Amino acid sequence: MKNILITGGAGFIGSNLALHLIEKGFTITVLDNLSKQIHGDDQDSSLYKSIKNKVTFIKGDVRNLADWETALKDQHAVIHLAAETGTGQSMYEVQRYVDVNVNGTAILLDYLVNKDHSIRKVVVASSRAIYGEGKYNCSQHGAVFPDERIEKHLEKGDFEPKCPVCQQTVQLEPTDESSKIHPSSIYGITKQNQEQMVLNICQSLDIAAAAFRYQNVYGPGQSLKNPYTGILSIFSTQIRNGNDLNIFEDGQESRDFVYIDDVVHATTLAIENNEVTQKVYNVGSGEATTVLEVAETLKELYDSSIAITVTGNYRLGDIRHNYADNSRIENELGFKPKFNFKKGVTEFAKWVKTEAIEEDRYAKSIEEMKKKGLFK
Ligand SMILES: NC(=O)c1ccc[n+]([C@@H]2O[C@H](COP(=O)([O-])OP(=O)(O)OC[C@H]3O[C@@H](n4cnc5c(N)ncnc54)[C@H](O)[C@@H]3O)[C@@H](O)[C@H]2O)c1
Ligand SMILES: [Zn+2]
Repeated sequence: MKNILITGGAGFIGSNLALHLIEKGFTITVLDNLSKQIHGDDQDSSLYKSIKNKVTFIKGDVRNLADWETALKDQHAVIHLAAETGTGQSMYEVQRYVDVNVNGTAILLDYLVNKDHSIRKVVVASSRAIYGEGKYNCSQHGAVFPDERIEKHLEKGDFEPKCPVCQQTVQLEPTDESSKIHPSSIYGITKQNQEQMVLNICQSLDIAAAAFRYQNVYGPGQSLKNPYTGILSIFSTQIRNGNDLNIFEDGQESRDFVYIDDVVHATTLAIENNEVTQKVYNVGSGEATTVLEVAETLKELYDSSIAITVTGNYRLGDIRHNYADNSRIENELGFKPKFNFKKGVTEFAKWVKTEAIEEDRYAKSIEEMKKKGLFK
């Protein structure tokens, strides 16, 4: 397995992965449409620049069969990362998200079923978003997977999820791969679709396949322009503009932040390991960090005096907590994250300080959500 196609290979994860695989001796082709939301209006981002002379670059769209045909020629594996990735945005651009994420994957699979090709492995980027609210323990009912929180509770500032059976308070646990899949956003639904479609078709074709359910990936190279996704970069751009931070809910909502090098390392194992067949894997840091802690840590790292206000506002579709149980990938692929939040965020902030300060477009993105009734 030498020739690898990375779709979305000009993006954050893809470009880092491409550079790492090249170092390991693989030959990389990238299919990417250089989407303006990620790469800017002139489509010449530093991410794209970092790979453009090192890979065979095909500027094309995963919604276009002819582009797949060109890109798949002589490839042995596909790492399918190209996607629309904003959870909030997916709630009001439903067709675009379904078209790129689901339809784009469908075209790949149709190609693999119906045409001659040399693909032996497909790796697809899934997401922790497919779990929606993560795994919890109820003292009466054991492992439970709470439903989406209801407005009546959120309005009162009661943000913690409840046991779906007895409505009592529940204890947070790490989410493992057999946890209930119940995405609470269109983005999560498209990721679930992508994952299931890839595993289903590849199994019938006897092509090895793996879906990686990444937690919140961050690190150097992450878009500092995109106000729709990536809380660390959104906060960083706000702080560096001298703008105060408004924290949703009570600030105690938490996420699992996994450093880019760890994600690259885990995904590389899927390519190198011959045992990987029809498998799904969590990829996280295994550590839950609250949003308030993220804000305070960044403020300190940028040596800033902005104010941090916990507002009690909330976004419909947001989950409360989710962090990964990495046992499966640890046991089966020998993956262990090397970066905890403290170490990773320090590296991240060091890099951000070397970058230009981008325009803070976050308030505008929140306005968009407010107008559609998705922000309260
Ligand atoms: N970053 C995260 O926290 C995270 C978490 C879970 C899952 N993922 C998944 O990992 C993958 C990569 O994420 P990322 O953070 O690198 O995102 P990114 O936005 O930085 O990269 C995505 C790339 O895909 C390209 N692209 C978008 N639409 C396309 C289309 N129609 N045709 C061809 N190319 C297209 C973009 O130009 C971009 O270069 C995505 O599938 C995402 O859903 C990311
Ligand atoms: Zn219960």
